[in-house]
Amino acid sequence: MTGRARQPLLDAISARFLREFGGPQPRLFFAPGRINLVGAHLDYNGGDVLPMAVDRGVYAAMRLRDDGRIRLRSLDQEQGFELATAAVPQRADPAFGWGNYPLGVWHGFRARTGRARGFDVVFGGDLPMASGLSSSAAIEVVTAIALDALLQTGMDRQQLALLAHRAENGYVGLRCGIMDQFASALARPGHVLWLHCAGPRYEHVPFDPQACEVLVMDTMKPRTLSKTHFNERVAQCATAHETLRAHVRDLPHLADYQPADLEAARSAMDDVLFRRARHVVTEMHRIATGVDALRHGDYQELGRQLDDSHRSTALDYEVSCRELDVITEVARGCDGVFGARLTGAGFGGCAIALIRPGIADAVAAHVGAAFEREFGVAAGFDLLHVGTGPGEVQSP
Ligand code: GLA
Repeated sequence: MTGRARQPLLDAISARFLREFGGPQPRLFFAPGRINLVGAHLDYNGGDVLPMAVDRGVYAAMRLRDDGRIRLRSLDQEQGFELATAAVPQRADPAFGWGNYPLGVWHGFRARTGRARGFDVVFGGDLPMASGLSSSAAIEVVTAIALDALLQTGMDRQQLALLAHRAENGYVGLRCGIMDQFASALARPGHVLWLHCAGPRYEHVPFDPQACEVLVMDTMKPRTLSKTHFNERVAQCATAHETLRAHVRDLPHLADYQPADLEAARSAMDDVLFRRARHVVTEMHRIATGVDALRHGDYQELGRQLDDSHRSTALDYEVSCRELDVITEVARGCDGVFGARLTGAGFGGCAIALIRPGIADAVAAHVGAAFEREFGVAAGFDLLHVGTGPGEVQSP
């Protein structure tokens, strides 16, 4: 299980661009996907998260146009889209499918900078799509980085992350927090991002690839209705927060409360709201312990926080499923696995295991066989590494 060479992918993107749109050569940009070590569903609750941008993501070949048209293509999607800049809708339109992500970013650029030039783009990537590694944020961030470079708007990475986040949150309508776009836009080689979403403030914490590797395990279970379920969790947390403010004390975010506050409000909340809030409040302690462990190079302890985080997301937050529970449980039983949990929003898709370097193939074989016996499905396995972060890709 070794990293894939990216050159064939870059060649395919450039070739498709030239075939569809003609010369001259476009410029090429990259933005990474992410896994989140601990801090599940904390970003929209004003809590902390600990994402790692990986060495996989989305590439974009882009060139500006002068005739007020936008043309969108993707190596992975049959359908492309073409429209006049004047026809870009104010909100995502289902007719534009995946094109809503880049259109949302373009829309945000126009609102912020007044620049409204059209462009041609071809996207291509090496992330499993829609499986919890944040391919949509990678599309948004790569579009933002490319438009910023080509239009010379000179925005910093945090501004680009916020713009990309608004495309997902305001334009597409997933009520997500800022984690995915920040993880992608602010990634630094050899580090994970400890992001305090309430600020937002962040710091980079070193991750030692000689001590620990990340095995991603794809259950192949589609994340059906995940947008509806996700937005429902956001609404439940908002209600739990309101109840705590009214009955206990007034703090700005749900993640700011302590377990004792929850107990004090228990009779005012139904069981579902109580458990949603308990996940958020206890996850804040797991992330503090996890960051401390990472700082001390204690990957065993970090792994334990992943295990506990998975249990809490499964039992209290109820965003897991049997496939994710089984794949993480079997992985935990393997020698050299520090810990495992679902990644991303949950509801299907991928889980991650933190493992001792060199054992990925053995773990994948064992977990894969057990998973197939249980579900009759071949799970996917991939070794991910801390990436080098986003930016322009120089042609060789
Ligand atoms: C999705 C969202 C993120 C975050 C995670 C859960 O990936 O896009 O903002 O809420 O789920 O931690």
